[in-house]
Amino acid sequence: MPLHTASADLKTTPNTTSGRPHRGPDWWLMMKKFWSKGRSIASFAPSSRFMARSMLAGIDFGTARCVVELGAGTGPITAELVRRVGPQTKLLVIEIDPDLCGRLKARFPQIDVVQGDACHFDKLLADRGITQVDHVCSALPLPSFPAPLRETILATSARMLAPGGTFRQLTVMPLVYYRLYCGYFQDVRFRFVPLNLPPGGVYVCRGYRGPG
Ligand SMILES: C[S@@+](CC[C@H](N)C(=O)[O-])C[C@H]1O[C@@H](n2cnc3c(N)ncnc32)[C@H](O)[C@@H]1O
Repeated sequence: MPLHTASADLKTTPNTTSGRPHRGPDWWLMMKKFWSKGRSIASFAPSSRFMARSMLAGIDFGTARCVVELGAGTGPITAELVRRVGPQTKLLVIEIDPDLCGRLKARFPQIDVVQGDACHFDKLLADRGITQVDHVCSALPLPSFPAPLRETILATSARMLAPGGTFRQLTVMPLVYYRLYCGYFQDVRFRFVPLNLPPGGVYVCRGYRGPG
């Protein structure tokens, strides 16, 4: 099977950075990234706290051993995760863009933030001796990924998920991709989040059945 990576398949602007930390608020950094990188960023503003809470609703942080966040941006969901996880839960946060990742590392020095491609998150977990994940929280722009790349990420998530685990996917196009995710999972619930810019929601998926 060919190795699919976002950098190879998405043909995004190279991950260059000036080397200087970006100043200004999160919304300004996201807007600049959206302007320069378009569909690999997919959203022009950081998620609201309502979106972050909806992403995490129902997760039992008392029993979860590992939670992975894919495509963390400036960290609105990371912030909510950091508020909720205890010392017994391993949190791994992955972001491909170096400037966004730099901001995450500066903001959350206490957690494991990796600049890398979400396609390889199983290897990042293996490096840390982790074989199972309780929940995968993704804000990746999966619908705009080429199908083989999207399937690599979904299949990897499914393989790593513990029994009862969930794959959670953020969207800023409410319900538009419901059928897409139903093609991959037996059980897909959609939570609408009106208080977000733009309004969006979260798909909570269980029971991977392969490409639809
Ligand atoms: C829609 S933004 C969401 C940002 C943040 N989670 C939020 O809710 O505001 C999607 C993020 O996914 C990141 N991303 C895109 N492709 C990625 C990949 N292959 N691996 C890791 N991160 C990726 C982008 O750089 C961007 O920060």
